[in-house]
Amino acid sequence: MRVGIGILGGGTVGGSLANQLLREAGAISAKSGIDVELVAVGVRDLAKKRDFPAGYATDDLEGVVDDDRVDLVVELMGGIDPARSLLKRALEAGKPVVTANKELMANHGEELIELAAGRGVSLLFEAAVGGAIPIIRPLSESLAGERIDRVIGIVNGTTNYILTAMEDEGRAYADVLAEAQALGFAEADPTADVAGHDSAAKAAILAGLAFGVWVSVADVHTEGIHGIDEVAIEMANSLGYSVKLLAIADGGERGHVARVHPCLIPMGHQLSSVRGSSNAVFLEGPNLGQLLFSGPGAGGQPTATAVLGDVITASRELLAGSQVTPRIRYSAASPRSFDDVENQWYLRLIVADFPGVLAQVAGAFGAADVSIKSVWQEGRGGTVTLVIITHPAQEKAQRSALEKLSALDAVDQVAAIIRVLDEE
Ligand SMILES: NC(=O)c1ccc[n+]([C@@H]2O[C@H](COP(=O)([O-])OP(=O)(O)OC[C@H]3O[C@@H](n4cnc5c(N)ncnc54)[C@H](OP(=O)(O)O)[C@@H]3O)[C@@H](O)[C@H]2O)c1
Repeated sequence: MRVGIGILGGGTVGGSLANQLLREAGAISAKSGIDVELVAVGVRDLAKKRDFPAGYATDDLEGVVDDDRVDLVVELMGGIDPARSLLKRALEAGKPVVTANKELMANHGEELIELAAGRGVSLLFEAAVGGAIPIIRPLSESLAGERIDRVIGIVNGTTNYILTAMEDEGRAYADVLAEAQALGFAEADPTADVAGHDSAAKAAILAGLAFGVWVSVADVHTEGIHGIDEVAIEMANSLGYSVKLLAIADGGERGHVARVHPCLIPMGHQLSSVRGSSNAVFLEGPNLGQLLFSGPGAGGQPTATAVLGDVITASRELLAGSQVTPRIRYSAASPRSFDDVENQWYLRLIVADFPGVLAQVAGAFGAADVSIKSVWQEGRGGTVTLVIITHPAQEKAQRSALEKLSALDAVDQVAAIIRVLDEE
């Protein structure tokens, strides 16, 4: 049975999807019994050269949504508007929607999912997190019966590429970022990636699906990687850790909390083997134990493959008259404050080298109720480097210790603070 597909956006992912639909239509029909038919691809600039047949391109995006031959709309434009208004238009017309837009789903997912549910149509967004890695469907369907306790993701390929290259080649952050931009792994304006905003949107989506609550991006504590220097990475490595930008979402009785920040992870941890631009999502639950999903987190063809999976599912549901949105029920719940989250901290301090300095430093931690797990000292005479890893303590206690440390005359500089993925 035929399903007409209208794509909004014919760039990296939209262009790949258009080609996959044209190339694979016969194989899809043989496997699924559905005849997917590309109708049109909406773009901004008709003069741009396309890698799909030019006859499909149009700059009338509302026309694509409204076209009677289009049964299903795929949004691959990115950004909030006009993607949001076009998708609302499609859903209001009773057309199922597939999108890869994490920014839209993290900020307006609630509105779109409610609209789709009200109209009884499918809204699928597998490629919004982790590119080609199936993670949305496993969380919302395969693992719907599991109480997920924790999600840990490496969900931004650009930052993982930068941190891996810094670790493997001992190079500086700015140098690797410039190379990543030249190779097309990083945007000309890399802020959304390196400041952690892209990961925060994905953390909100993952936390929402894992715990069945609406999670606002504004509630995701977000720190980026620009404070990580090559010395921090070298020292972390020498202590047996890798540095990763992690999106972590914790559930539990005390409430959910989601955060994005750089983290030291033990080199034996499964996530430390996720190198380069790869992505991974690690799940923990009482019955399943641990599960790791990993693979290409971006790229036109890998991402289009995940989108195509959603297109086939949504088509199947459309034809069967069994469209399901939402896959899981979301409830409203207040998040736990990040201040109350317990973390281990790694600190690198530059301190004056005199007898009793260690006691002063230890005293600052003690006064804030933070206990020290291990201390390393490098150098002698003048100033020395102290590397300290604490036991887990609440963020507010760690920050209080930091204030007390910074006020000590003996402490010249707090050169690095990185959280440690809890081992205790
Ligand atoms: N690239 C990836 O690896 C990847 C991975 C996972 C998810 N995603 C998500 O997939 C979506 C698409 O990403 P992409 O990399 O394919 O983006 P892209 O290469 O920048 O393509 C965007 C497309 O949308 C069109 N477009 C944008 N704004 C428009 C407007 N106002 N009116 C008409 N057309 C407009 C552009 O038209 P022109 O071509 O005429 O400029 C272009 O064809 C985003 O939500 C992104 O986050 C991408």
